[in-house]
Amino acid sequence: MRSIIDILDLSVEELDELIQTAQDIIAHPDRYSEVCHGKKLATLFFEPSTRTRLSFEAAMYELGGNVLGFSEAQSSSAAKGESVADTVKTVSCYADIIAMRHPKEGAPLVASRAASVPIINAGDGGHNHPTQTLADLLTIYREKGTFENLTIGVCGDLKFGRTVHSLINAMSRYKGLKMVLISPEELKVPSYVKKDVMKKQGIPYEQTTDLEGAMPQLDVLYMTRVQRERFFNEEDYLRLKDSYILTPEKMKNAKSDMIVMHPLPRVNEISVAIDDDPRACYFKQVLNGKYMRMALMLKLLKEAGRI
Ligand code: CP
Repeated sequence: MRSIIDILDLSVEELDELIQTAQDIIAHPDRYSEVCHGKKLATLFFEPSTRTRLSFEAAMYELGGNVLGFSEAQSSSAAKGESVADTVKTVSCYADIIAMRHPKEGAPLVASRAASVPIINAGDGGHNHPTQTLADLLTIYREKGTFENLTIGVCGDLKFGRTVHSLINAMSRYKGLKMVLISPEELKVPSYVKKDVMKKQGIPYEQTTDLEGAMPQLDVLYMTRVQRERFFNEEDYLRLKDSYILTPEKMKNAKSDMIVMHPLPRVNEISVAIDDDPRACYFKQVLNGKYMRMALMLKLLKEAGRI
């Protein structure tokens, strides 16, 4: 049974295929409106979410299917001590596919070994968030027309920001990538990402604390929030939370066609005054996420012989 736990579970060819499917869904939504008739998605969210859970649910409804699930651990039998493995064995009896978010790194992988339906990792702790990366990839493709020869700046909490880890993994497979890692000292990209991905693949990268200095070279600026829920103490969070705030003044240093991305939710790190800048793409990412989740669920349900 195939599950998607990491973005690297999908080959570059499969990413292309998902992007083509998503673009076809955008162009011809009617062709897809009944393809999952009678099928059920379970959304098992042990951690808060707005976009990921609701876009998975909207995606399944737009494919003609149905949705069941829970949006907090406290309303499931996890609150009584049930294991992740037993939970997904149970839910496999009710649903054709499962999207799971969990605060513990590796929980969706454990789930995929116990489930008898495909599991999609909808975010595990500070580790990975592959379907956010699908949203990010479609956005980059639609805005820049290519994945090659891009200089991508990622800014903010690069330690706990799981979307950044998945994005670096995904982009590492395309030619001409340069990464600019912009963060406070304490929130640098984990060394395993540098060693196992960027160094291993020979990707040029620079690390800096200076957003304004890095800006002129960037084709993509990917902002992230400081992940309060992953900090061990509130003092450190309060000291670091406003390390970077993107303002119209700072955007003057950027290329005229640089795009600004953010997985959202935003706290303070992008001024709302940027929202009307044509380079702001973060709400396009939200919509693109729904189409890519539709494409991914279609692919996994077909491979599992369920549609
Ligand atoms: N980008 C993202 O994962 O948003 P949510 O936490 O709202 O799902």
